[in-house]
Amino acid sequence: MAIEYIYHGHMNSELRSSQYTVLIDPFFTNNPQAKIGPEDVNPDFILVSHGHGDHVGDTLAIAERTGALVIANFEVANWLSSQGAKNVHAMHIGGAYEFPFGRVKLTIAHHGSALPDGSYGGNPAGFLITMEGKKIYYAGDTALTYDMIWLRDENVDLAVLPIGDNFTMGPEDAVEAIKLIKPKMVVPAHYNTWPVIAQDPNRFKAMVEAETDTKCMPLEAEGHLTL
Ligand code: NI
Repeated sequence: MAIEYIYHGHMNSELRSSQYTVLIDPFFTNNPQAKIGPEDVNPDFILVSHGHGDHVGDTLAIAERTGALVIANFEVANWLSSQGAKNVHAMHIGGAYEFPFGRVKLTIAHHGSALPDGSYGGNPAGFLITMEGKKIYYAGDTALTYDMIWLRDENVDLAVLPIGDNFTMGPEDAVEAIKLIKPKMVVPAHYNTWPVIAQDPNRFKAMVEAETDTKCMPLEAEGHLTL
């Protein structure tokens, strides 16, 4: 069964199977790249990689309207509960859990995780998601780390990697990450949202396809691809 990946701009992502819709880091309000609003999505599950405002985004409003289960690290999950989220599932790095839509494992990310009000957000994470037999690695905000080599054995179908530099990996380090992970496909993310993370996705695509066997698929907001 095929699944659909939809890029909502910045790093806001969506996975859809025939049965379930999963949103990851649903940042619509104040996202300069967003072409739709938080009222336009209807997830069954929401994954939040870390506490920063451009990743927590509209999680609370969307969860309240849809009743979606919110999945995040322990500290972010507790904070969301304290802000009124009724349906949360706390996890932590290295841990995996089988949800109705598939399996989620929290992966290592090197970054920060303070919540919008300054609360402690624990360690940031990425996600290795297994859905309908496909594997998606959503790195979250992270530096290049050699730990990524562990993902090589997972035969990742799609990696969503930050390339913006300044706050996360830049394009050169993201190419090195691809050499470690060896995914079939990569979608670059977390770039061109603001001038400080301006990047040329076509230059990145050329680098990836010259130096690796991975297919690079830069997407505009609301662009999508089928896995
Ligand atoms: Ni961040």
